[in-house]
Amino acid sequence: MCGIVGYCGPKDATDVLLDTLAKLEYRGYDSAGIAVFENNKIRVEKSQGKLSCLIEKIKTDGKPTGHCGIGHTRWATHGEPSDINSHPHGNKRVSIVHNGIIENYKQLKEFLSGQGYAFESQTDTEAVAKLLDYYYDGDPLETIARVLGEIEGSYALGIVFRDFPGRVYSVRKDSPLIIGIGKGENFIASDVSAILQYTRDYYLLEQDEIACVEDNRVRVYDVHKNPVEKELQAATWDVDAAQKGGYEHFMLKEIYEQPTAVRTTITPRITEGMPDFDECGLTDEKLAAYNKIFIVACGTAMHAGMVGKYVIEKLARTEVTVDMASEFRYRDPLITDKDLVILISQSGETADTKEALRISKELGADTLAFVNVKGSSIAREADMVMYTHAGPEISVASTKAFSVQIAMMYMLAFKLAYAKKKITKEVCAAYIAELENIPEALENTLMCKDTCQYVASKIMNADSLLYIGRGLDYALSMEGSLKLKEISYIHSESYAAGELKHGTISLVTEQMPVIAVVTQHDIMEKTISNIKEVKARGAKVVLVCAKDVEIENEAVDYIVRIPVIMDALMPMLAVVPLQLIAYYTAVLRGNDVDQPRNLAKSVTVE
Ligand code: G6P
Repeated sequence: MCGIVGYCGPKDATDVLLDTLAKLEYRGYDSAGIAVFENNKIRVEKSQGKLSCLIEKIKTDGKPTGHCGIGHTRWATHGEPSDINSHPHGNKRVSIVHNGIIENYKQLKEFLSGQGYAFESQTDTEAVAKLLDYYYDGDPLETIARVLGEIEGSYALGIVFRDFPGRVYSVRKDSPLIIGIGKGENFIASDVSAILQYTRDYYLLEQDEIACVEDNRVRVYDVHKNPVEKELQAATWDVDAAQKGGYEHFMLKEIYEQPTAVRTTITPRITEGMPDFDECGLTDEKLAAYNKIFIVACGTAMHAGMVGKYVIEKLARTEVTVDMASEFRYRDPLITDKDLVILISQSGETADTKEALRISKELGADTLAFVNVKGSSIAREADMVMYTHAGPEISVASTKAFSVQIAMMYMLAFKLAYAKKKITKEVCAAYIAELENIPEALENTLMCKDTCQYVASKIMNADSLLYIGRGLDYALSMEGSLKLKEISYIHSESYAAGELKHGTISLVTEQMPVIAVVTQHDIMEKTISNIKEVKARGAKVVLVCAKDVEIENEAVDYIVRIPVIMDALMPMLAVVPLQLIAYYTAVLRGNDVDQPRNLAKSVTVE
């Protein structure tokens, strides 16, 4: 994962690098480092730990002064988080920052060791730094092109050569990178949100393109060193969207942004009360012709896919298979050119999801991506893309991205059901009308905040929890459980309520709270029976349910009630208390909510 930045311009490079790195810490925060041209020499400062540790170190060492440099924030893959393994890597002549994985680094290290190079870190990146040094002949472009021919894997690289102060070279393959275009200053960054306070204009660097960035010009070349004309892109996200805006954490702010995010995502896709996917060319005829649907994603996005499966199968009577991308890519899926594969991804850069997309295309299926980040790899490579409009999601634990993903799944389910003639136009329009009510219903749902905080205070000392539900409530309980694990570090498992008695119920004791989700009226009684079963075995039960659910007081300990809407759409609301319970539990345990340990938001490695 990792975030990389670079700067060339009149401002103090250290300030800009630290400032832009702070916006990329969501990509990793095991260590941070910068390399700045100071008096025509490359000066490196790096430190294990978060960016704040690097800032402290710079205070002690003295700030590098210069106007050009590169920076890095790390999520460790090769080698533990340590000062030595921190980026930049290199020597006095060349210094680099890297996001990705160099797969043949062992062979490269062996070769370079034979040439007399000594390695100090355990990273794959150091091999690239040394290889650049080995091939360096005074021509950076030639040197980089040569190195590209020898490295395998994924990379976004920021490179500085001592002989060329004022220049940052950059190249990428399978890891994201943009070139920010300012006035008299230019940038490189893993993600456009890092540079929004300086400029909105940027180029997207394509696979194996090499950029030479200076303060007043940017030149881009293909791998054969031919100049490439780039098209200027403009970021639509505003600067405020990436600030905390008075909230204690990004996660809480993003939970509260869900009504707006959902509204912004669905409104442009509704024409005369019906779902409209014309923007990506997905007509009713095309939709109706698909045989099977595959949904492939990771983490929270995969849970959005599970919600999609239940709704699509129920309404459109079309078979849907949901896969974790990491499994899909190696399981030789039975996909044909008559199928539709839907990829869901907030970042649009998740390595496994990206590979699943490529495999699906090779098998001849049509591919449709629901992606939040404009211009990201998955968005660009899919046959059809529909952007979710959640705005930048900074907290590592995903919240508003999930809500807009399921909103899109609903739109697709309604459209498919209508296209396949399983529902009438009137019914389809009624579903859409209910979806349009969701933003307001979400506002009302957010009022359960205090109850969730109270529930959190009751579960915060548990060692382990169970989440249970049936059907859509099961899909939701999976997301609730993941949220809790990610940020509170309490173990939890999600179980289909009816499956409990086939083994897992043996774990239930007074020490194991159970969070039950009950929003589906047709199977409500069944889950309530399961709640009674765990209650009878001593569990403290937290019930998240629709307002009209009736249950005896003795069967539960704490209840969070949410507004009642059509059953099919209840996940849109039920996720909110699950997010809030996880959030407050993490806060009460004193955890770093926005940057939980060991995680990163954008998983660009397998
Ligand atoms: C990481 C993040 C999760 C996210 C998953 C998929 O694990 O921490 O929040 O759901 O990646 O990411 P994507 O960007 O593809 O939605």
